[in-house]
Amino acid sequence: EDAATANLTEVSHTVSGEERAAANGHRGGILWLTGLSGAGKSTLAMALERALFDRGWQTFVLDGDNVRNGLNAGLGFSPDDRAENIRRVAETAKLFADAGMVVIASLISPLQADRERARVIGGDRFHEVHVAADLATCEERDPKGLYKKARAGEIAEFTGVSAPYEAPEQPELVIDTSVLGRSEALAHLLDYVDETLGKA
Ligand code: PPS
Repeated sequence: EDAATANLTEVSHTVSGEERAAANGHRGGILWLTGLSGAGKSTLAMALERALFDRGWQTFVLDGDNVRNGLNAGLGFSPDDRAENIRRVAETAKLFADAGMVVIASLISPLQADRERARVIGGDRFHEVHVAADLATCEERDPKGLYKKARAGEIAEFTGVSAPYEAPEQPELVIDTSVLGRSEALAHLLDYVDETLGKA
């Protein structure tokens, strides 16, 4: 066993997951949104948060762009740093989900292996959602001008340009934003959330 954890004993909660779900009217869970920069992850994540909140659900978005300013300050975009970024968000998401919330994690999370680790951390609460839009579509949108910079060699290891994106092999849900409009995309996601987490 790991020396750092050798003398730790897990403490039990007095409030069960079932009690939290009954109080909230829905179960806790993690919707893990993965996709290229510009695929629409953040827009969809924030729209879902709004929609669930308006129904009285407990929900919160963990967005890569945001957590990189705090929890994950100092991490860059090397494969190791991305892996650690994803690991920390997965552990945080698990805590929020255990607390009863619907966590919407929005990270590029480009590698299958890193997402698999996140799934192991999240256990059966983890739901992988591929926010799919092909590279050409994302690059044409280029909402932050990052593809342009990456093509000009101004950003190293940019996903889709100079760093890989491995599409999920068996995601629970695929939302193709190059085909669906914003409200359709949200409706699909809401249906999925209702089906999987809607019953306490
Ligand atoms: S990852 O791969 O999951 O760790 O990335 P994530 O935490 O989601 O952060 C992605 C956002 O960081 C900006 N950015 C980059 N993305 C990809 N590659 C490189 N090199 C890079 N440098 C900065 C970019 O704004 C990403 O945001 P989104 O919302 O995906 O466009």
